[in-house]
Amino acid sequence: MSGRIPEAFIQELLNRVDIADLIGGRVSLKRAGAEFNACGPFHDEKTPSFTVSPTKQFYHCFGCGAHGTAISFLMEYDGLDFVEAIEDLAGLCGLEVPREGNDAPVSSTRSQAADSAAVIALQERASRYYQQQLRHHPDAPRVVAYLKQRGVSGITAATFRIGFAPAGWNNLIDAFGHEQENALVTAGLAIRRDKGGCYDRFRDRLMFPILDTRGRTVGFGGRSLGDDTPKYLNSPETAAFHKGRELYGLHPALQRDRHPRRVVVVEGYMDVIALAQAGIPCPVATLGTAPTNEHLQRLFRVTDQIVFCFDGDAAGRRAAERAMEIALAMLRDGRRVEFAFLPEGEDPDTRVRNGGGTTFERFLDEAIPLSEFLFNRLLDQTDLYSLDGRARLVELARPYLIRVPPGALRELLLARTADLTQLPADQVRRIITASGNRAVGMSTQTKMPVRQEANPSARTPVPSPVITRALRLLLTEPRCADAIQDDTDLDIIDLPGADLLREAVQFFRGHPDATTAMLLEKFRGRPEAAILAEIAHQKPGGVDDSIRHSAPLADAIVINDEFRDLVSVMRRLAERQRRRALLSRKSVNSLTEKEKLELRGLRRETIQ
Ligand code: UTP
Ligand code: MN
Repeated sequence: MSGRIPEAFIQELLNRVDIADLIGGRVSLKRAGAEFNACGPFHDEKTPSFTVSPTKQFYHCFGCGAHGTAISFLMEYDGLDFVEAIEDLAGLCGLEVPREGNDAPVSSTRSQAADSAAVIALQERASRYYQQQLRHHPDAPRVVAYLKQRGVSGITAATFRIGFAPAGWNNLIDAFGHEQENALVTAGLAIRRDKGGCYDRFRDRLMFPILDTRGRTVGFGGRSLGDDTPKYLNSPETAAFHKGRELYGLHPALQRDRHPRRVVVVEGYMDVIALAQAGIPCPVATLGTAPTNEHLQRLFRVTDQIVFCFDGDAAGRRAAERAMEIALAMLRDGRRVEFAFLPEGEDPDTRVRNGGGTTFERFLDEAIPLSEFLFNRLLDQTDLYSLDGRARLVELARPYLIRVPPGALRELLLARTADLTQLPADQVRRIITASGNRAVGMSTQTKMPVRQEANPSARTPVPSPVITRALRLLLTEPRCADAIQDDTDLDIIDLPGADLLREAVQFFRGHPDATTAMLLEKFRGRPEAAILAEIAHQKPGGVDDSIRHSAPLADAIVINDEFRDLVSVMRRLAERQRRRALLSRKSVNSLTEKEKLELRGLRRETIQ
């Protein structure tokens, strides 16, 4: 489905949904004053450190730092991506998700949504058809024998809904009726002929339905049973199917365990199936593509540990390198990314069938951490015995290390670089974190993805303490925004973070009913989002909590007053700075007429 979801619609959803209801339906919440508490749903804990604020429409877990809006909660807890979370919320409110852009009128965006639903319905129907053929088609015994020979049990075949697309050109069309021709083509199940009519895409193939996170069939992989090439044929991308997003095997795995200790990423459909059958928790595969940002983000929503288990050949190594480059930016403390390489000629399927599940688990336990994989790759390209080589190692490490968010892991990588090069740690840090972004040593064919969960300070200024304080008040009491009568008060402020404050004030002024969560959603995907979220979960110190709950009105007045005071302090500060700057230039006689006038105005005001 193309087109952005209009921002107004997202705001409308947040307006209609109550985060306490939404979370309360999944986690048992206890009221505590104006908020709700619970044990953190994202990790094990005995004392409740998870809070939900109905006024801010925001949750925060002091145990693990998770926080966000109703949308974020669905993403984290249900393992949905952004669009899916919106669709779910819209479903709860009985709304349809509109799309903007592409000059598409509303009615056509509606029909796009209908297309997507129709495609999915047809895929589901095709899946049932293929499964039936595996039971009843005259050729079925040959296919069942193939599955048996590959060690796939009946139960596994049923779990993964494996099916059979018989040989022949018109099976689906004959089964579904000619009136479905167009729909079959749209769904990617049939291909149109130049001369008119169409034919089945999948013929004489073992069929693997691909399920999205909600368990709906969105596409297929088909393995050739005869001489047909390619060996594996995948559904084309449709409104409902994006290869860069889906992971084969994830849905059935999460049915067994919603938060697996680790996820194993392999290359093939058959690898997933063999590992699952051997009892390995959560094996998943990308669909013939290298892992994407979206894949990893989706996985990190359900687990803290990802093991990539690739073939030891050149293709496997390339895939691993790509996975490493993407994963670097997501290396929050507590997360682990590891690599397990199989010798050439083996894949996870053959390995687990020969050695069994327990041996395979041990093999996974010995996977090398990302840091080791990274340094092994770098050391392949340098000679540590020469001074030159050691200096080069720092340069080679730089583009990788700057991707890693600040934290213990980044420190560890810096320390390891210092260790290997025998340079002082401080010097290594200076070279690595020096400004500029030369991509030395980065594999050239794979451009580094934009950092998604980056350290916000790398691109946006960290707001000054006064701005932070003002933002904290504003996020606690959005109506502070109305206290600013005169826009020039804000416009003149020239402190780090002033733009953010201006944007937030403007937003709340334009949306009189907006909650803090709505502001956060407006910033989703921007580096400032992390700053705002961090500020949003802090209570404005100085305002006693007990007063806050018993006398919200008085409290709002206190917050409003302080906010107004802060803004006027900042304005006076800015005016003084500006005045000083103009005065120093006046002495060298370089003020324009306009600036002279401005200086006179500034004098008057600051005297008052
Ligand atoms: P492999 O060739 O390693 O497949 O491709 P496999 O799973 O070991 O196959 P078997 O064991 O012979 O059945 C790994 C993955 O790459 C994609 C598929 O997703 C496959 O599972 N692929 C491979 C294709 O998309 N097309 C191809 O022609 C081959
Ligand atoms: Mn294989």
